[in-house]
Amino acid sequence: MIAIAILAAGRGTRMKSDLPKVLHELGGRTLVERVLQSCQEIQISRRIVIVGYRGELVQQSLIGGQEIPENPESPPLEFVEQTEQLGTGHAIQQLLPHLKGFQGDLLVLNGDVPLLRAETIKQLMAIHTQHKNSATILTANLPNPQGYGRVFTDSQNLVQQIVEDRDCTQAQKQNHRINAGVYCFHWPHLEKILPDLKADNDQKEYYLTDTVNFLAPVMAVDVEDYQEILGINDRQHLATASDILQTRVKDKWMTAGVTLIDPHSITIDDNVELQPDVIIEPQTHLRGRTSIASGSRIGPGSLIENSQIGENVTVLYSVISDSIVAENSRIGPYAHLRGHAQIGANCRVGNFVELKNAQIGDRTNIAHLSYLGDATLGEKVNIGAGTITANYDGKNKHKTQIGSGTKIGSNSVLVAPITLGEDVTVAAGSVVTEDVANDCLVIARSRQVVKPGWKLKDAEK
Ligand code: UD1
Ligand code: CA
Repeated sequence: MIAIAILAAGRGTRMKSDLPKVLHELGGRTLVERVLQSCQEIQISRRIVIVGYRGELVQQSLIGGQEIPENPESPPLEFVEQTEQLGTGHAIQQLLPHLKGFQGDLLVLNGDVPLLRAETIKQLMAIHTQHKNSATILTANLPNPQGYGRVFTDSQNLVQQIVEDRDCTQAQKQNHRINAGVYCFHWPHLEKILPDLKADNDQKEYYLTDTVNFLAPVMAVDVEDYQEILGINDRQHLATASDILQTRVKDKWMTAGVTLIDPHSITIDDNVELQPDVIIEPQTHLRGRTSIASGSRIGPGSLIENSQIGENVTVLYSVISDSIVAENSRIGPYAHLRGHAQIGANCRVGNFVELKNAQIGDRTNIAHLSYLGDATLGEKVNIGAGTITANYDGKNKHKTQIGSGTKIGSNSVLVAPITLGEDVTVAAGSVVTEDVANDCLVIARSRQVVKPGWKLKDAEK
């Protein structure tokens, strides 16, 4: 039986933020959410998050909506409060009443170590079980170990002590083997010695790492790729983690057959799905739950968030959020799709067009300078330049419906609620306020009056 505990009570003073450190985002997900999800592949019976600084916020964020849906078999999240943050050991002491009599292992993860791979945790657990260790600790050899606790082992890889960077002597600082902040403890052993921790160190804190002095055997396991165990203490670390994550994600997609032009200028969240032969052009950002099908070319200069893009679509200098675009459509330059816009196949949504909650049938063109909100358009509709749906009366939003084959002349206003039938033609410059049946021409503007020679006559008076 395995319980996990995530340390998430600290403020993260070095972040210089009101937000608890573990709620800072990395590639579209909070640090603590990432840590939780790195344990999704092991069988666990309890999941405990230790919260303190603005704990209700951490709790809300984890319960309120994680970016990636949780494994339905995961046990419910439990929150344990550490009212005063007196150190990582003190945080784990808060579990004593909650894990009384628990006979299994406790996996402890720092809430600020977001890049761990599930595989690494599995390996740590396997070694822990295989050697029947009292504790097993994830370690790494870092080129620059500054800021991390140093782990001292004997020739058998058994841990003798862990000394925090700030408590190290000059000689101890030469040891580059660091504590990653990921531990597996045999709980019945840890439970016994937890009350004995002392705060006799530079920070006057109760260190979880001091427990190794009372437990045996404690084994160190080196992580293969040390980038995984980067702990986020400040904004620089956050930027470094983001670089590492981006490199991981981009490598994955390039290996899978996606072309990235100027990858450094592109960002891709790790929940994005791309098919082979997608081309991503410079300065393009793909966020949230976005998917892009084969043959599509996105960018340069585009932002796509929580949207599905079909095959062979082009998106040029455009912003698309919470929307769907079907195959062979061309979006942009400078289009904005939002609020559940749904574009059919072979459409064109062009220059300076904004679509909000609009469903657009196949082969429809909205090529220039339009706003369509709360609208449903059939197939092969043509929307002339500058067409606007007046969907808001100052209080409520209303719907516009346009049947297939209809053509709206340039610079028309469609005052919602309104329904135009199929194959309707609207004269340019119309302000349409009443429904129009199929196959009609509607001219809703004042007739042009021309007075020949008017200027001359007027001047004679
Ligand atoms: C800790 C380890 C260090 C290790 C490093 C790895 C200790 C004493 N040191 O140092 O050996 O190399 O992580 O990243 O454990 N927290 C609480 N309650 C507290 C204090 C901290 O919940 O009272 C949480 C923080 O929110 C954070 C985590 O514990 O998520 C680690 O705390 P932090 O202060 O960042 O520890 P480090 O100094 O990085
Ligand atoms: Ca840390």
